[in-house]
Amino acid sequence: MHIQVAPSVLASDFGNLQAAIEMINDSEADSIHIDIMDGVFVPNISFGFPVLEAIKKHAQKPLDVHLMIVNPDHYLSAFKEAGAETITVHMEACPHLHRTIQAIHELGCKAGVAINPHTNVELLRDVIRDLDQVIIMSVNPGFGGQKFIEHTYEKVRNLKAIITSSGSEALIEIDGGVNLDNAYKLIDAGADILVAGSFVFNAEDPAATISQLKEH
Ligand code: DX5
Ligand code: ZN
Repeated sequence: MHIQVAPSVLASDFGNLQAAIEMINDSEADSIHIDIMDGVFVPNISFGFPVLEAIKKHAQKPLDVHLMIVNPDHYLSAFKEAGAETITVHMEACPHLHRTIQAIHELGCKAGVAINPHTNVELLRDVIRDLDQVIIMSVNPGFGGQKFIEHTYEKVRNLKAIITSSGSEALIEIDGGVNLDNAYKLIDAGADILVAGSFVFNAEDPAATISQLKEH
């Protein structure tokens, strides 16, 4: 399968969000990564429903919504209403993860689980067949523009082995510090989707940068 690229709008110019979405529409990107931060689960606040709805109005690609919030169960249907195609919750924020995954599927969305750098992929074994994707955080969540954590490659390989041996169809998405220096090694280790924020939006030609990530 070809690698998918999901640009993260967190790194875009919010004063000109429509232009950022149109750039993604016209690019080879596969989806649009949306980072929701609540200032509780992570030490930062990003944006909420009005901004998500504004993005949805212009987006021609599926919205990949990454919830870095506590109590995500309270907001799942609101995110569906706002246009999410995939909803990913953090394992560390969900004491009843299986129930949360079921609730996402009942809404008709694809379900993902994200794990922080300290969380072992083995903890996913008992839900892996219920998932459409896993986000392996390759930075500590909360901010764009951080340095990629090298231990991620090993986690990708270990998760890939769990997915293959269990017959799961979950895709592996990598989020944080992705660039052309680590993209190939990530794909080689088993990654299916690369999220890229600052590497895309700080580039002189963001659309060409998306293509380069996909060419790898
Ligand atoms: C970090 C977010 C990421 C972030 C990635 O908490 O989940 O999606 O936007 O940004 P870069 O690619 O700049 O590390
Ligand atoms: Zn993210």
